[in-house]
Amino acid sequence: MASFTLERAGYVNPTLSDAQMAELKGIAEALSAPGKGFLASDESAGPWLRAGHSEAKKIPDTEENRAAYRSMLYKTPGLSENVGGVILHTETLFQSDAEGNKMVDIITGNGMIPGIKVDQGYDKKGLPGTAVGPLGHPETADKGLDSLESVCAKAYAQGARFAKWRNVLQISPADGLPSELALVESSHSLARYAAICQRNGLVPIVEPEIVPNGDHSIEACAIATERVLLHQFQALALHKVYLEGCLLKPNMVKGGLTGPKASATEIAVLTITALKRTVPAAIPGIFFLSGEMPLDEDNEESATINLSKMHELFPRLPWHVSYSYGKALQKTCIVTWMGKKENDEKAQAALKARCEANTAATHGKYAAGTCPSVGLDGNIAQAAGPY
Ligand code: 13P
Repeated sequence: MASFTLERAGYVNPTLSDAQMAELKGIAEALSAPGKGFLASDESAGPWLRAGHSEAKKIPDTEENRAAYRSMLYKTPGLSENVGGVILHTETLFQSDAEGNKMVDIITGNGMIPGIKVDQGYDKKGLPGTAVGPLGHPETADKGLDSLESVCAKAYAQGARFAKWRNVLQISPADGLPSELALVESSHSLARYAAICQRNGLVPIVEPEIVPNGDHSIEACAIATERVLLHQFQALALHKVYLEGCLLKPNMVKGGLTGPKASATEIAVLTITALKRTVPAAIPGIFFLSGEMPLDEDNEESATINLSKMHELFPRLPWHVSYSYGKALQKTCIVTWMGKKENDEKAQAALKARCEANTAATHGKYAAGTCPSVGLDGNIAQAAGPY
């Protein structure tokens, strides 16, 4: 076993050397720097298919368009003032833009850290014997653990320094969802993923997303979120995951999409309460996903307002609490871009404005309505399921 160091303290994991621990901690802390969040850019298909906008959805989903759009995003001037890490899909991690610049070089050249989504989604057949939830399929378990060791090693060699794995959990109190089986399966697969990432030099983002589908109350979401996070940190401990080199990406605590709507204050109080009860202070950063929202809600504005409200009401928290949004950073940007190169600069300005708004939110200082947004215009349900 490695010798005792102050850093290591009571942490017993012979797999990680002191140098590996120091590297992981350094990356996790850099990603958790004040004001910074993640740009979740790891959609499996064209990001416009998830944006929930009727016109944007028509942009052809070709590899060329995905590269053109994403390189435009990553070149946004000054983006690193707000974004510490960019989550990539495998295609993008190994892709170059039309000028031959590697995407990873564009990101690091613009002052940000690239990372990689490594889960391989889920099969809707789901966990045998579990009830069908509001997503219309049983509870699920993501694929990807078998090949993860080599996936991580290749990603590190290509320049990635963190990874993301998203599991999906559903709420249906009448059916007992999330079930104990789903909690155990989800928390242990995320913990195994996290341990494999760490021994390959990647900081794991642990994302047990409880999706908002359903008509449940915000209290039901609070109860489910606490259960999920309690299981999660117990599993991370069992798998000897080094918490100082690990990040959490949870859902906010909210009512179901078709249930009673909660206010920003209720969301902020119940979310922070659930986190305080379950997440060790050793975790450097917590970064929310934005998630699906009701069609009468401006998802970009809501995600920023909710984050700001948390910091307004809870100015002192043990972790960096920030954003790792996909849809809620990109919707207005995509609708501004619409697949046309001549719109690049305006689209970058839209992304930058929304990222600045979210940085202000991490200080509890976002004034609602001050960031331009496409709003409800063209709002349609976005693609659901595996990210
Ligand atoms: P959202 O689009 O819901 O913010 O999700 C981001 C993400 O990375 C989900 O895994």
